[in-house]
Amino acid sequence: MSVHAAEPIRKVTTHRLFEMKERGEKISMLTAYDYTMAKIVDQAGIDVILVGDSASNVIAGNITTLPMTLDEMIYHGRSVMKAVERALVAVDMPFGSYQGNSTLALASAIRIMKETGADCLKLEGGEEILDSVKRILSAGIPIMGHLGLTPQSINKFGTYTVRAREEQEARRLVSDAHLLEEVGCSAIVLEKIPATLAAQVASELKIPIIGIGAGSQVDGQVLVIHDMLGMTNGFSPRFLRRYADLHTIMFDAVQHYSNDVKSGDFPNAKEQY
Ligand code: KIV
Repeated sequence: MSVHAAEPIRKVTTHRLFEMKERGEKISMLTAYDYTMAKIVDQAGIDVILVGDSASNVIAGNITTLPMTLDEMIYHGRSVMKAVERALVAVDMPFGSYQGNSTLALASAIRIMKETGADCLKLEGGEEILDSVKRILSAGIPIMGHLGLTPQSINKFGTYTVRAREEQEARRLVSDAHLLEEVGCSAIVLEKIPATLAAQVASELKIPIIGIGAGSQVDGQVLVIHDMLGMTNGFSPRFLRRYADLHTIMFDAVQHYSNDVKSGDFPNAKEQY
């Protein structure tokens, strides 16, 4: 009997994502914000882990993503990077760290890359942030764009409803997507837009298009892990598929433990020294 060494892990890179699109292989992406969750997500074979600023909602309990700071994103990014061996890790640049000032954008980007070891950064917006995008790319830092519903602009939109239903906004989105590709972005997330528009963008662009509420005719899908695991139970957009009901499982387990402590059942004779 011969003993084979385990296959070496082949890290996902932005170039590999590009190749996956060329082959028609779909890209799986999920968020993670901490070491334990990131380890599970990576070992389960997810291609891209997003350290999303949705941490503001699901970890910090804020209503919007706007309060998230650079230091907080770096903390989450560093925790995730310690766990990940295979997935490409993208970290969201938080609100206020890149808009309207490309010098600040580059300094923020360099801090995230140096202090987390992440593979890539994600920025929300198109033409209006192009100077920042180009400046960050000039330092050799890969960028994932994010168009459509961009939660950092919620105060401008006023609602989390589907974006780019109107022709003018749809045309602007397609043009922004082309601009991001032309300047050298590695991928784009399209959030909550009509499926036909997302399909058009995915077919016109060579870089991978990852959708969330953008239909099936794109190159990959992303969800917030707390939502797809059913840990958050008050959020039910049409695009969300729940793969587990962890809210119920965790709630029941915590209640069971509490009852056992109060009744004196825990710890038992075998659970002590
Ligand atoms: O912050 C986040 O989790 C995101 C995804 C919803 C794409 O940007």
